[in-house]
Amino acid sequence: MPQLTVEEFGTFEVPAGKRLVNALIDEAATDQLHACGGLARCTTCRVQFIGGEPTAMTLAERQTLQARGIESPGVRLSCQISCGSDMKVQLISRLQGSGRSDQGNRPADSIEPEPQW
Ligand code: FES
Repeated sequence: MPQLTVEEFGTFEVPAGKRLVNALIDEAATDQLHACGGLARCTTCRVQFIGGEPTAMTLAERQTLQARGIESPGVRLSCQISCGSDMKVQLISRLQGSGRSDQGNRPADSIEPEPQW
């Protein structure tokens, strides 16, 4: 199983193919935001990759990052990424300190919208 390392939280084994956003919630038990419920609309699920950043990017992720002007290297939408190999990330969008009342609706098990690469 791939290993997910989250700075300040630890290293966790995650089921291969699991959405990164859901692994951050379930396995790592973080307060990662996902306000739009994993639909590539809000960017609150963004994380900073430290290692293992996937090269593939869904069209929805690319378009949303461009539309929001998010161009920092290694900043990716965790709702648009599957855990296929070891990854190391830093949380940069958490419930703590956000002023929001909750993390957002639970994202579906599969990437939404239907991925186009
Ligand atoms: S863009 Fe909203 S949860 Fe990923």
